Amino acid sequence: MIAYFGRRYTLSASHRLHCDALTDDQNRAAYGKCNNPHGHGHNYIIEVLVGGPVDPETGMVINLVDLDAVVRTRILDRFDHANLNLDPLFTAQVPTTENLCSEVFRLLKDALPTVPQQLRLEYVRVEETENNFFQCYNL
Ligand code: NI
Repeated sequence: MIAYFGRRYTLSASHRLHCDALTDDQNRAAYGKCNNPHGHGHNYIIEVLVGGPVDPETGMVINLVDLDAVVRTRILDRFDHANLNLDPLFTAQVPTTENLCSEVFRLLKDALPTVPQQLRLEYVRVEETENNFFQCYNL
């Protein structure tokens, strides 16, 4: 039997949606006000779902303290109160929330402990606004 543990984190960051390969007009057409040269910020909510067997000794899928430590060191310390455009991950790709979600997924998947249990990062969901969210699944 596999059980799932989910946890939510908040992350405030700024970005500007701009693709160097497009002209200024094309950028404005593609991104609208999100292409504003001064950028803008979001209070993102990052939701992480981890699946795995319940450890017979601890009764847990993953200790939330351990998950918090991974998310803090890999994600929050890096992106919270940062300008996403200045992060090396977003020099060659636009810091849309699709790309942020996919990078968060990759960073966490690489860092999640798999010993002693076989844990699996099921999905990462990033809520950008009340109305927009993005999810990356482990398929
Ligand atoms: Ni935005």
